[in-house]
Parts: sequence; C-alpha cells; structure tokens
Amino acid sequence: PNKETSPLYVLHDKAMQFYHHMLVNTEVGQAALTYLHDRGLTDELIEEFQIGFAPPQREFLERIFEKEAASREDLLNSGLFIERDDGRLLDRFYQRIMFPIRNSSGRTIAFSGRWFELSDEKSDQAKYLNSPETPIFNKRMVLFNLDKAKSSIRKDGTVYLFEGFMDVIAAFKTGLESGVASMGTSLTNQQIQQLERVATNLVFCYDGDDAGQQATARGLELLREHSRLNLSVVRLGNKLDPDEFIQANGADAFRQLVEHEQQTPFSFTADFLAKQYNLQNEKERVTYLELVLKELATVDSLIEQDQYVSQLAERFQLQRTTLTQQVQLYQREHK
Ligand code: GTP
Ligand code: MN
Ligand code: MN
Ligand code: MN
Ligand code: MN
Repeated sequence: PNKETSPLYVLHDKAMQFYHHMLVNTEVGQAALTYLHDRGLTDELIEEFQIGFAPPQREFLERIFEKEAASREDLLNSGLFIERDDGRLLDRFYQRIMFPIRNSSGRTIAFSGRWFELSDEKSDQAKYLNSPETPIFNKRMVLFNLDKAKSSIRKDGTVYLFEGFMDVIAAFKTGLESGVASMGTSLTNQQIQQLERVATNLVFCYDGDDAGQQATARGLELLREHSRLNLSVVRLGNKLDPDEFIQANGADAFRQLVEHEQQTPFSFTADFLAKQYNLQNEKERVTYLELVLKELATVDSLIEQDQYVSQLAERFQLQRTTLTQQVQLYQREHK
C-alpha cells in the first residue's frame, strides 16, 4: 500500500545526509568521529550505515529545512522536530550520534540517536533516543538492518538477532551480515512475520549481562509460541555484548563462537535456571530439577532428551529411570 511518495521520506534522506556530513566532514563532528573510530568503526562502516552526528545546537536541521521552504506540516509530521510553546521548531535530536533506521525497502524512515557527552559533566539524557511514531515509522514493524541483511539471511536461512545497533554493525564488520535488531523492545508479531519470510533459523545474540540473558529467556518463550523458526542461542560470557566481545577478542573469535558454540533453547534455559537457584541447598535443588525436567518435557528431540537425562543423572547422582519417568509424567500432564 505504501508507495513511498510521502514528502517525509525526502526529509529523512536530507536529514541523513546532513547528519552524516557533520560527522565525517566538519569540526563539529570531529570528537564524535574519533569516538566511533576508537570503538572500532571504520570509515567504510560509517559510510555503509550512513552514521551521522546531530550538533548540540537545536536549530541545525531547522535552519536547513527553513531555507528549503519545507512545509511546516511536513516538518511537524516528520518527528524530527519538537514545537515550542511560542510555535518555534527545535531539532528533536541534538548532540547525538545518529543511526538511520531504514524500512525493508531501504528507505530511511526514522533515527535512533546515541547521546554523545562533550564534556566531563554527566548529563541525565537517555542513552538512546528514537524517532516518535510518524506516518512513515511504526517501530513495531521495523527491524534495524533487515533491508541490508535480507539477501545474506536467505543464503542459509539464518537470521541473527541482536539487542543493539552497535552490535549489528560490529558483527557486520566481522563479515556476519545477517544481523538485525529490534528497537530495544521484544519482537512483535509483525517483526516475526517479516523474519519468517526470509529465515527458517533464528540465533539469539543478546548481551551477556543479566538483562540480556533475561531478554533471551523471554524471547525464546515468545518465539516458541508465536513462530515456526528453529531457535538457538549464542551466549557471550563475562557480561559482554557482541560489540564488546569483538573489541576484546577479535573477529575470528566471534565468528568461531557464533558458528560453533550455539546452544539449544533447552541448554540455555537449563543454564539460566541454574543461576537462579542455590544448587547446594536440597530444597532449591529439587525445585530446579523439577523446572528443568518440565522444560525437557517440551523438547521434541529424543536424542537431546536422552543426552540431558544422562548429564543430569551424573551431575546430581540420580537414577536415569527416575528422571525419564518424571519427564514422561510432565509430558502426559502437558497433553
Ligand atoms: P553502546 O553503549 O553504544 O554500546 O550501546 P548498546 O548497543 O550496547 O546498547 P544497550 O545494550 O545499552 O541497549 C541495547 C538497545 O536497547 C539499544 O540499541 C537501543 O535500541 C535500546 N536502548 C538502550 N538504551 C536506551 C534508552 O535510553 N532509550 C531507548 N529508547 N532505547 C534504549
Ligand atoms: Mn559519505
Ligand atoms: Mn544492555
Ligand atoms: Mn549492549
Ligand atoms: Mn554496547
């Protein structure tokens, strides 16, 4: 239905070009550019993703569009400005590193801006600021980088899901071009449908911190219920996120992890649960084992089941038959 004729697309294209220009060609963007270089982003990546910088002055974009005589209605609808009480428009994004958000056909429809500290003073700005919903941007529909990733995803049917834009970009740098990220939220049904059109497998590559692991657990549950995708998990130790992992250990170590160290959803969940119980305590250990076996009862592969029954029997000094019977019990209850 969307023929992409809205003037808002043009405004976003122009904004993207001006932000990008500020970052790569001007004194104003120099500190931010150095910061990105220090984080391992090359000029090629900055070009590829058209990353930009919104200067600290809040009339930067406003003046550009004023000169171009853009209609006030379009400017207000674009989400790129906020209206002051006296009717003047101010740039919504200022002093931020700008990541263009593109729709699945590659048009820029929104931005996410990362706050960039210019002095030592700590400000209370949110780390990331996203465009508001507009006639061309519905954040429930959009996955960061899906337009670029599509062809790569189709090659082996596998999509990699990240938490952050910086992670998608860092993975891209290592040659993993099938990465996407949602806008800091869990996946919506519309996003899942888009992924199912191009992928049969989905690999979670969320942050290694507690929040990331929680989000992985929730994501697995959500997708198990609402998608036909085969799921797996890449777990990064040491609370690192993929970008930090690549910085610390290099591209090869990351690719090695992603290609050879994927966990099954069950294995991830078993580890995840283990961290929430004190397994030295008898009562907690029983609770843990019951939860794990309940989870195991949902695993389709008998081989995977058998493998874990053996592991658990060994680890907790239990009879295999006891564990197997408990799993069967849960399976009957489930039906
Ligand atoms: P860096 O600190 O630059 O490495 O960012 P990150 O990619 O590691 O981001 P983080 O793990 O903090 O968050 C992951 C994702 O959550 C981001 O890409 C955003 O989409 C979202 N997010 C994080 N902080 C905020 C915030 O303050 N506001 C909003 N709206 N979203 C956020
Ligand atoms: Mn350029
Ligand atoms: Mn995080
Ligand atoms: Mn992160
Ligand atoms: Mn990060």
